[in-house]
Amino acid sequence: MPLIHAQRADITRLQVDAIVNAANSSLLGGGGVDGAIHRAAGPDLVYECRLLGGCKTGEAKLSKGYKLPARFIIHTVGPVWRGGTTGEPDLLASCYTNALRIAADRQVTSIAFPSISTGIYGYPITQAAEVAVSSVRAALKDYPEIEEVIFCCFSEDDLNIYLAVLDNNKEA
Ligand code: AR6
Repeated sequence: MPLIHAQRADITRLQVDAIVNAANSSLLGGGGVDGAIHRAAGPDLVYECRLLGGCKTGEAKLSKGYKLPARFIIHTVGPVWRGGTTGEPDLLASCYTNALRIAADRQVTSIAFPSISTGIYGYPITQAAEVAVSSVRAALKDYPEIEEVIFCCFSEDDLNIYLAVLDNNKEA
C-alpha cells in the first residue's frame, strides 16, 4: 500500500524523487510556489522550460530538478477558479493524474504535490483537497511503483484541512 500523507513544508526542500509545480501555461515562472521552485532550482530551469512549449490547463510536463534535492520537477497548470461550473474539478483532477502518469514513466517512487490552484488561482482549499486526495488515491491503483505521495502544505491551516480530508477519504 502506498503511503499518502500531508505535511507542512517548503516543497523546494523535500527529499523526494519528484516535486510538482503549480505553474502557469507559459512554464516560464511566476509567483507563489512556482517562483519559489524557480529560485531554488536556479536559472538553468527556465532554459529547459523554454524548450517545453508551454502547458495547457490540466496537463503536465517534466523537467530536471537542477539545484533542488528532487531529481525531477513535474510542471502542471491548475484551473483558475471561476465558481466551479466551468470544469474546474475535472481539470484539477487531471493535474494530479497526469503528474502521476509522468512520474511513473520515470520510475519515480516518491512525489510531493503543492496544493495546486489554491493560491493565486483561487480554488477553495477544502474542495481542492478533496479533488487532490480522491484523484491521487484512484490513480495510484494504476501506478504501483509509486510508493509515497506527500501533500505539501505551506500553512498550518492548509495542513489541517488536508489531514481532515485524508481522514474522511480513507481507502474502502
Ligand atoms: N512550498 C509549498 N507550497 C507553497 C510554497 C512553497 N515554497 N509557496 C507557496 N505555496 P500558488 P496556484 C503554496 O499561488 O494557485 C504562479 O504565479 C500556496 O500557499 O503558488 O496554482 C504561477 O505561475 C498555495 O497553497 O499556485 C501561476 O500563474 C499553493 O502553494 C499561478 O501562480 C498554490 O498557490 C498558479 O496559481
